[in-house]
Amino acid sequence: MAKETPKVDPADSLIVSEVGPWASEKHARVQRYIEISSATRKKYVPPPSWHAGATYIELFSGPGRSLIRGTKTIIDGSPLVAFKAAQANVPFTQMHLNDFDAGNSSAVDARVRALGGAATCYNYPADVAVDKIVAAVNPSGLHFAFLDPYNLEGLSFDIIRKLSKLKVDMLIHVSVQDLQRNLDDYSKPGGVFDTFAPGWKAHVSANQAINSFRAALMKYWMDEIRKLGTMPAKGVELIVGSKGQRLYWLVFVSAHDLGQKLWEAIRDPMRQTTMDI
Ligand SMILES: C[S@@+](CC[C@H](N)C(=O)[O-])C[C@H]1O[C@@H](n2cnc3c(N)ncnc32)[C@H](O)[C@@H]1O
Repeated sequence: MAKETPKVDPADSLIVSEVGPWASEKHARVQRYIEISSATRKKYVPPPSWHAGATYIELFSGPGRSLIRGTKTIIDGSPLVAFKAAQANVPFTQMHLNDFDAGNSSAVDARVRALGGAATCYNYPADVAVDKIVAAVNPSGLHFAFLDPYNLEGLSFDIIRKLSKLKVDMLIHVSVQDLQRNLDDYSKPGGVFDTFAPGWKAHVSANQAINSFRAALMKYWMDEIRKLGTMPAKGVELIVGSKGQRLYWLVFVSAHDLGQKLWEAIRDPMRQTTMDI
């Protein structure tokens, strides 16, 4: 079968990804968080020139623009949402954007440039890019990382562990659908859960009802994040699809009370706040 030609945005002739309408929900959280954390970010950005800087990090950036599936509407992807939100308030001193797809990586690079910015763009698997990015940023700076993989496969716990060595707030997309569909496969020896939540087998029994297994696994994952000295916020947001299907959680993680307070201020209080399945 012939490979489908990648779709492009007629506005810039660069490739777009295809997304569901719910992508805007996560973008709204990224935007609000960048807006509301501006005053804190200002303390880190030059001048004076010795300030350590404030960066935006994505390991799964996409191409920077997306077509909403089944429509002709093209929206900004999270890197552009983040860039614009920061420019309108307190710009980041650097943006580090990675996508293992070379086409996505060069498209997002070009799009940030077209807006007058300059991102450092990488083209590696996320678990390789994280080392390069952690080495490139100032450890005394303030960092915001949006981790937005399609599925749990790319979300190795090592990524969170390595990023947590920085002064970083993280917003993590955890795919509920992936967890629901692939539970059996992922729990096999050497399966995805071994990288997503290493050590889970010693703490979570796979011999229990599916729902309680999933809930216990996610509790274990959150507990392991807490052990890194950073905290998942109590308010986890569940994003649902147009037919009410459970799609993904947005988990906010910060080592600081202020980060937690800012997240509380912007998340939707009407939404589910636990990772119950
Ligand atoms: C959900 S999309 C990101 C969308 C983007 N954050 C946005 O909102 O516009 C996930 C992206 O991650 C990339 N990707 C998937 N697995 C990856 C991996 N292991 N390492 C790096 N990139 C990966 C895909 O090519 C895809 O562009």
